[in-house]
Amino acid sequence: MDRIYLDYAATTPLDRRVFAKMEPFFTQDFGNPSSIHTFGQQAEAAVDNARTGIAGMFHVSTDGVIFTSGGSESDNLAVRGTALWQRRTHGKNKIITSPVEHHAVLATVEQLGDAYGFDVHLVKVDRSGKVDLTDLERLIDEDTAVVSIIFANNEIGTINPVSEIAEVCHRKGAIFHSDAVQAAAHLEFDLENSPIDLISIGAHKFYGPKGVGALVSRKKPELFPQITGGKQENGLRAGTHNVPSIVGMAEALLLAREGMAVRSPELTHMRDRLIERVTEEIPGAMVTGDLKERLPNHASFVFESVDGNRLLVQLDMAGFACSSGSACKTGDPQPSDVLLALGIEPKLALGSLRVTLGSGTTDEHIDSFTRALPGLIEANRKRNS
Ligand SMILES: Cc1ncc(COP(=O)(O)O)c(C=O)c1O
Repeated sequence: MDRIYLDYAATTPLDRRVFAKMEPFFTQDFGNPSSIHTFGQQAEAAVDNARTGIAGMFHVSTDGVIFTSGGSESDNLAVRGTALWQRRTHGKNKIITSPVEHHAVLATVEQLGDAYGFDVHLVKVDRSGKVDLTDLERLIDEDTAVVSIIFANNEIGTINPVSEIAEVCHRKGAIFHSDAVQAAAHLEFDLENSPIDLISIGAHKFYGPKGVGALVSRKKPELFPQITGGKQENGLRAGTHNVPSIVGMAEALLLAREGMAVRSPELTHMRDRLIERVTEEIPGAMVTGDLKERLPNHASFVFESVDGNRLLVQLDMAGFACSSGSACKTGDPQPSDVLLALGIEPKLALGSLRVTLGSGTTDEHIDSFTRALPGLIEANRKRNS
């Protein structure tokens, strides 16, 4: 059976062109960038080159790029690192985030509240998952150390008005971090002309390798390292550089940028066709997230009287790989916190489905998926009744 992968928000395949750039750094150019000798210098040059490339794409200085082990570490570094720094240097004690963040942010903020005594606040979101700016204005004050709001949501695809959010933060002197792990594959960022202070990315969401990411800001950020030890990354992240992956991430981001203008409208077209067919042909189907301000590759639904986890198994048996939320939640019978935060009833939230498109997706894939789904939903409902 030909399997159809429709879970590009969970991860993407490594682009062969990226792999080709990475390969020499596993074997012949294996030096440690911190070593003095020529092997080390060559590896250091490769890391510097990747840093310059990424800094250029974000319009920031090279000091503003910190390589990490992925999106989660980048979120941790931004949120915990900044909160602790702001408390130490300015006595600030408040953190604001939203209830629809990835757990890499939510669990970090929870820990900062429980174990470090920060005053944590969750800003309201509307039914599409967008931050309520009035509520943010109400919560934020001069005591706010850091505000972290997701750029584009992994479960529902909604894109937040991050520039407006950042303006609100700046008026009160708070640092604004945005988790752009999902957004990086689809949107361009110019941090030089944007009020956003810190952005997190992870390469495996844009056809780069797993286990590498970055925290990006206009200049060297003020924060405490979360991995202490050697002086790598300007003293902000210790540990021998993952040279092949760093090289791969820079190449993957470049290719994502180059391909965006052509690929983005194609993805949007397929996504809209999928959404239209699913909502037209399946009674009791509802789109989650914003219909317009959403990632071009992202479709997400809830279905009345459907067991979402069972639906994933049925889809898998029929040859389709999808998700019911973020990858980390698959198999978890609890309704998604993100969907509950939108005001969706817990029972309805249990019938969620996320379909995310990518480089391998074709019109034929959308056709066969939308042909198969109504029957699977019907069978699922019969077992549920
Ligand atoms: C929005 C968002 N943030 C953070 C992460 C974590 O990134 P990583 O898997 O690179 O640690 C993910 C991954 O699913 C994500 O979707």
